[in-house]
Amino acid sequence: MTDRIERALAYAREIFAGDASGHDYWHTWRVWKLARRLAEAEGADSAVVELAALLHDVDDAKLSPGTCAEKLRARAWLEGEGVAEADIARILHIIGQVSYRGTDSETPDSPEGMCVQDADRLDAIGAIGIARTFAFGGSRGRTLWDPEEKPRTEIDAQAYRTGGGCTINHFYEKLLLLRDLMNTPTARRMAEERHRVMTDFLEEFFSEWQGVR
Ligand code: ADP
Ligand code: NI
Repeated sequence: MTDRIERALAYAREIFAGDASGHDYWHTWRVWKLARRLAEAEGADSAVVELAALLHDVDDAKLSPGTCAEKLRARAWLEGEGVAEADIARILHIIGQVSYRGTDSETPDSPEGMCVQDADRLDAIGAIGIARTFAFGGSRGRTLWDPEEKPRTEIDAQAYRTGGGCTINHFYEKLLLLRDLMNTPTARRMAEERHRVMTDFLEEFFSEWQGVR
């Protein structure tokens, strides 16, 4: 690991200290690990992928609305490191493409962006994804499930951000859609198993809810 990566990890640790919405430091750490692995498998530029992964949430709209549009925190950190402007522009461009926005989501236009987006989405599904989703719901005071509240379909960026439904609905509004949205073959393979973990979980959840198991 280079000194710069170590400093980026320390920066992420500082930024996300105290987060209880599933976007804590360890989310960034896992996305970095996954993105690095995907970059290796896909032959993408790993220096760019690693920095974009480590900085992908520092200007997140929910956590830092004031700096989100221009990615000001990521830019300031990269400038402080003396990273060349061309590389800063590439990294910020990737970060801008990563986030899930329902039907307004972007497909990254570079292999590097595809690796970072896939890594962030892999961390949203599977066992970790289930845990993060309920943590997020708890942080927003949401109920686990309300059988009378139907999940929405075909939601756009605005609806995705403003929807305040029960947590189980998030599986139908986002998480179960991610498997088929992976960009890289490696992530597509990994998503299969994680997807199955979620469908098994939901089946068990509904059985227990009805008291049949
Ligand atoms: P991205 O990482 O693509 O920017 P978000 O930050 O919106 O996406 O979501 C990241 C994770 O936060 C989700 O995968 C989920 O675990 C949790 N989350 C976001 N919105 C909701 C929601 N409405 N209900 C439950 N969990 C949510
Ligand atoms: Ni993220």
